[in-house]
Amino acid sequence: MGWLEGDVALITGAGSGLGRALVDRFVAEGARVVALDRSADRAAAVQAAHEGSVVGVAGDVTVVEDNERAVARALAQFGRLDTFVGNAGLYDYGARVADTPAEALSRGFDELFAVNVKGCLLGVKAALDALVETSGSVVLTASLAARSAGIGGAVYTASKHAVVGLVGQLALELAPRVRVNAVSPGFMRTDIRGPRALGLDDRTLASFPDLDELARAVLPLQFLPDPADYTGHYVQLASRANAAATTGVVVDCDGGFAVRGMGPPPG
Ligand SMILES: NC(=O)c1ccc[n+]([C@@H]2O[C@H](COP(=O)([O-])OP(=O)(O)OC[C@H]3O[C@@H](n4cnc5c(N)ncnc54)[C@H](O)[C@@H]3O)[C@@H](O)[C@H]2O)c1
Repeated sequence: MGWLEGDVALITGAGSGLGRALVDRFVAEGARVVALDRSADRAAAVQAAHEGSVVGVAGDVTVVEDNERAVARALAQFGRLDTFVGNAGLYDYGARVADTPAEALSRGFDELFAVNVKGCLLGVKAALDALVETSGSVVLTASLAARSAGIGGAVYTASKHAVVGLVGQLALELAPRVRVNAVSPGFMRTDIRGPRALGLDDRTLASFPDLDELARAVLPLQFLPDPADYTGHYVQLASRANAAATTGVVVDCDGGFAVRGMGPPPG
């Protein structure tokens, strides 16, 4: 028996990378899933991979109506909603303030924050009544950039700190009916894109061919995790039986990056 048997989850950014791994894991744990992604092809592909257990919805997390449509689909198809996973995100590829024209910085900030922060807020808002009904939960995707500088640039780092702020505020506001937590994954190789306004919409992590080597060099655990390696934390936080007393928590799973400090490289 899975940890999410009978539950229904809405996962955003579900067509690729971590979101896709979360869909696969939630289904393996017994959940049915609405998979929201901006890419219609990806939404269709994840539905086809789990016919009967997953409904793919093409939509944009920055748009109120698209979030509401995804929640309505969960209720129409599966009759309930137990967990909202706010995961869709953009990365700024470390764009430095000094090197970025002010106009691009302004538009890039709006574009990235709209997905990484507003997308989480609008998703929670759309899901709220349904989550209250089931005494459900929210799990957001933060990042090791929510704790450490130098992983992204100022825009991405600030957006992930804002996700942690949402967790605290919403955990308080939505108690006692709805638990709100986050997972802060470390490095992984995905298709993550950046804001068009920063010229990063076609950039991918393929531009870091030495990511495995970097992970081995700087992480005490000395390996580059796959997206699937992070999914167990989401399952636990979503599970009533295994996290009933847990709200307002951010689970760091960064390969030990945060504890290394000035310590020597892993040997
Ligand atoms: N890749 C990493 O190293 C890393 C590290 C820490 C945290 N994260 C976080 O993990 C999350 C998932 O990123 P990923 O690395 O799997 O990237 P990814 O690009 O592989 O997957 C993200 C998915 O979100 C979708 N998406 C983007 N904007 C959207 C929007 N406005 N509305 C709906 N869907 C949208 C994309 O189409 C894509 O399918 C993000 O929040 C990211 O910040 C990633």
